[in-house]
Amino acid sequence: MNDFVLNIPENMLPHRLGQKSVWEKSARAVLALLGDVVGTEGLAEKAILHYGCGAKVSKLFLENDIAIKQYTGIDSNGELIAFLQSAVSDARFEYHHANIHNALYNRQGLELSHLHSLPVEGRTFDLICLFSVFSHLAPHDYKPLLRLLRPHATDNARLVYTLFLNERTRGGYAMMDKWAPVIEEYGDIPADAVVPDFVDFFPDQPLRAAVYSRAYALELVRGSGWQVEEVRDPMRYLQHVFICRPA
Ligand SMILES: C[S@@+](CC[C@H](N)C(=O)[O-])C[C@H]1O[C@@H](n2cnc3c(N)ncnc32)[C@H](O)[C@@H]1O
Repeated sequence: MNDFVLNIPENMLPHRLGQKSVWEKSARAVLALLGDVVGTEGLAEKAILHYGCGAKVSKLFLENDIAIKQYTGIDSNGELIAFLQSAVSDARFEYHHANIHNALYNRQGLELSHLHSLPVEGRTFDLICLFSVFSHLAPHDYKPLLRLLRPHATDNARLVYTLFLNERTRGGYAMMDKWAPVIEEYGDIPADAVVPDFVDFFPDQPLRAAVYSRAYALELVRGSGWQVEEVRDPMRYLQHVFICRPA
C-alpha cells in the first residue's frame, strides 16, 4: 500500500462500481484471474494490453503496489483516457484512446471492421485482456476485434476475455441466473432447448447485455488467429471467461 490515490471522477465509473466494496472486489477478481492464467512467473514479468480498460484495474494496481512489468490500457472513452494520462505518472503505465464505435458506449466512433490497427502498432504483449467488453459487443464486431488484437500477441501470449454465455450455472453467476427474476416469461431453459446464437438482452438498451450461445461464441473465434484453450464458468464479479492462445 502506498499513498497514491487514483480519484476516478464519478461520471467515469459504471454506476454499480461507484461503491468501493464493489469496484475493489471486482478488480481483485480480475487480478486473481490474471495471476492464475500467467502462473508462477507472475505479472511482474508480463507486459499487459488491457483493451476497454476502464479505470478500476489501474486503481487497484497503482494503489496497492501490485508488481507488473508494463500495463497498456486502450479505451474508446476519450475523456477517461485523458484523465488516466494526466493522473498516472508511473512509467510502467500508459493509456491510448481508440475512437471505436459501440452502440452502448460510443455511438460516434469508427466501425471496428473498418480498422486495420490499434494505437499500439508494432508492439506485442504477453497478456491481452478484456473484461466486460465482449459483454457489450455486437456479433459483427466479435471476430474483427479478435483479429485486431492478434498482431499484438507474443508467441506465448494468452488472451483472456469475459462475456455472457446464454446458460445457467450451478454456481448461479451467469447472465441467465442473474436476470432470472426479471425474465420470468423466459422460463427455465430446458436441457434440450435450442439456444439462440445471440440475444441483445435488453432490446431498448442496445448492447447493455450481449448474450451469446457457447457454440456461437466458440465459432466466432475460428479463423480469427486465436484458439480457445479453456472456457471457465462465471464467478462472482466475473462472467464466463475465455482463455485463448495464438492459433
Ligand atoms: C463495462 S466497461 C468495463 C471496463 C473495465 N474493463 C472493467 O472491467 O472495469 C467497458 C469499457 O470498454 C470500453 N469500450 C466499449 N466498447 C469499446 C470498443 N469497441 N473499443 C474500445 N473500448 C470499448 C468502454 O468505454 C468501457 O470503459
